[in-house]
Amino acid sequence: MNYDFDQIINRRESESIKWNLYETDVLPLWVADTDFLSPPSIISSLQDRIDHGIFGYAKPQDSTKRAIQLWLDKRHNWKVNLVDVVLIPGVVQGFNVAAKAYTNPGDSILFHTPAYHPFFNVAQNSNLIQITSPLSRDPSGSYKVIEDDFQSSVTPETRIFMLCNPQNPTGRAFSKSELLSMAKVCLKHKILICSDEIHSDLVFTETNHIPIASLSEDISNITITLLSASKTFNIAGLKSSAAVITNPILRERFVQTTNRFAGSVNLLGEIAMRTAFENGEDWLNMLLSYLEINRNLLFDFVQSELPGVHMSKPESTYLGWLDCGDTGLRNPSGFFLEQAHVALNNGSWFGDEYNNFVRLNFGCPQERLLTGLERMRTALLQR
Ligand SMILES: Cc1ncc(COP(=O)(O)O)c(C=O)c1O
Repeated sequence: MNYDFDQIINRRESESIKWNLYETDVLPLWVADTDFLSPPSIISSLQDRIDHGIFGYAKPQDSTKRAIQLWLDKRHNWKVNLVDVVLIPGVVQGFNVAAKAYTNPGDSILFHTPAYHPFFNVAQNSNLIQITSPLSRDPSGSYKVIEDDFQSSVTPETRIFMLCNPQNPTGRAFSKSELLSMAKVCLKHKILICSDEIHSDLVFTETNHIPIASLSEDISNITITLLSASKTFNIAGLKSSAAVITNPILRERFVQTTNRFAGSVNLLGEIAMRTAFENGEDWLNMLLSYLEINRNLLFDFVQSELPGVHMSKPESTYLGWLDCGDTGLRNPSGFFLEQAHVALNNGSWFGDEYNNFVRLNFGCPQERLLTGLERMRTALLQR
């Protein structure tokens, strides 16, 4: 079946935050959802459930866990048991639950920067000390984990490391050796790993996603993996995700804390997630081909048409991380909003030191992406 990712859909008439935060002449390339229709199979499974007409409290279904189990095996070569899978509403809730479940006030929590902004709230939410470890950047602009840097960020109080793999906003899909080096440090210092793998199905052809817990039993024993179909299949508003925890003691603690603080997965979200993992593979393969073209188009355009802007090719996600340091702009996202009428995420959202950066969402029809890029080019040339 062919899916039309070029289709232009008016999202302004929906509740979309991406499309309704700014004036109507602004093209929004910010929040991380896409402008694509979800797969037809998801839409029809939701329609079938809606026809039932009663939406009371639901019991999470083994069939959903089974769909996740099969997907992880098929797409990521990771074998887990059905009992390892815990359904939860959201990944942000999941990593906050993990922090609550496994730490005591005064412990420290470690993560890489630049980081997805909600990572910065976790320490305060659970009375923890926040430690950030900047990813190292090579001359090509690509970010990497350097074991010594990571190791030197660890303190005796560090209890939990929040990994984001693939990484938002840099788009890195970490290599086996990078993952092993982080895991080695965590095993040595008895640090739990909470691995946010929400972008794991959005990886381009040159690499693949490696779930850190799949690397060894020892690593799996200290890891809580969080995943969802939400980014990939454009169902983020339906609040459904999963945690995979193979260590029964950690899992029990996570389940208890989830029940206290997060509650259960959304009924319709669970149906959408199950359908995505049961039937979504063809659609996903076509989405990835489309996104890869967008990614390459963005990369080439930035290189040749946006003077002073640099980026490295994201290996994953539909997010471009643009370094505007050589443009001389003091507030690049503000400039592009006011002068180009394009809404991007301000780099400082990912860490104070990244205010020279913007994040651009290329999960949209090519026509929209090109319109946004042309507007940015004109604004840069006319200033
Ligand atoms: C790394 C990462 N984690 C979590 C989320 C959001 O997860 P959820 O909507 O399931 O809370 C996002 C959304 O952009 C994200 O990029």
